[in-house]
Amino acid sequence: MSITVTGITKLYGAQKALDDVSFSVGTGEVVGFLGPNGAGKSTMMKILTCFLPPTSGTATVCGFDTGRDSLKVRRHVGYLPEHNPLYLDLYVKEYLDLVAGLHGMQNRAARVKEMIGIVGLGPEQHKRIGALSKGYRQRVGLAQAMIHEPDVLILDEPTSGLDPNQLVDVRALIKRMGEKKTVMLSTHIMQEVEAICDRVIIIKEGKLVADDKASTLRSSAHHREVLEVELSGDVHANRLTNIAGVLSAHRKQGNTWLLEHDAAVDIRPAVFRFAVDSDLQVLGMQKSERGLEDVFKELTRKAQ
Ligand SMILES: Nc1ncnc2c1ncn2[C@@H]1O[C@H](COP(=O)(O)OP(=O)(O)OP(=O)(O)O)[C@@H](O)[C@H]1O
Ligand SMILES: [Mg+2]
Repeated sequence: MSITVTGITKLYGAQKALDDVSFSVGTGEVVGFLGPNGAGKSTMMKILTCFLPPTSGTATVCGFDTGRDSLKVRRHVGYLPEHNPLYLDLYVKEYLDLVAGLHGMQNRAARVKEMIGIVGLGPEQHKRIGALSKGYRQRVGLAQAMIHEPDVLILDEPTSGLDPNQLVDVRALIKRMGEKKTVMLSTHIMQEVEAICDRVIIIKEGKLVADDKASTLRSSAHHREVLEVELSGDVHANRLTNIAGVLSAHRKQGNTWLLEHDAAVDIRPAVFRFAVDSDLQVLGMQKSERGLEDVFKELTRKAQ
């Protein structure tokens, strides 16, 4: 295991930011770490990178305890913190050379050059960091996180604020990194999770609420599915919810409806019968895939 978290609780004064969280991440996995604002994602990442001690519980990275072996942990971990703090007065190359030096690396110049190529900083490499656009600063942040060839990358919202083209580039870069390394990244963008993560961990108010493959989460949460049905004429929603097995009916557009039902019940025969009895034809019918976004909303909705 690359990362094991056992019963981590973190208190800021009286506030519980993390509440008895446990999970593990295997070598080579790319894990999406999700949760609403204030759920405790950044706090967990700071604990895993030895920036903060937990109030109780333990965490190990590459087998090293974050409390007892913090230097070894930091040697094996690359970290892109939230808000990507950088020295704005330093030049790109100067800064990366400084970071390589802090890691005690040999032939720093060659490694800096290599990293500039990997993250696509070539055209901007002679600029001061303060003169770079946000996306290029993000690339500098990624380069500093990866320069010492860590086995584990912890990236706190690595793509926030990137334009669509840079987004594609940076996601591809993270995915490539994930082929050889363990990556844990936080994000609020579900497409990103779908595009690059093998697994999803969701926390809410400091507690773990889901830990599974994205595909499993999509199909299993609340065991519900949605059937999209197009009818030849108008009906009232109430009549659709009266069909056996239908839990709710939402008009998608015109006479096309989204019928939510228990995944264990096939409502299609009942829908056909309903159409015949109502003098309507079924013009189209298809299962509508639940998105990860729906799952996220259900799992992290505030208690009413
Ligand atoms: N240094 C601190 N002192 C006091 N409270 C803090 C501190 N850092 C975080 N918190 C609180 O702990 C909770 C978790 O914060 P955290 O930054 O870990 O959330 P997050 O999941 O990263 O949220 P976001 O999606 O907004 O980045 C929040 O309620 C936050 O206000
Ligand atoms: Mg955060």
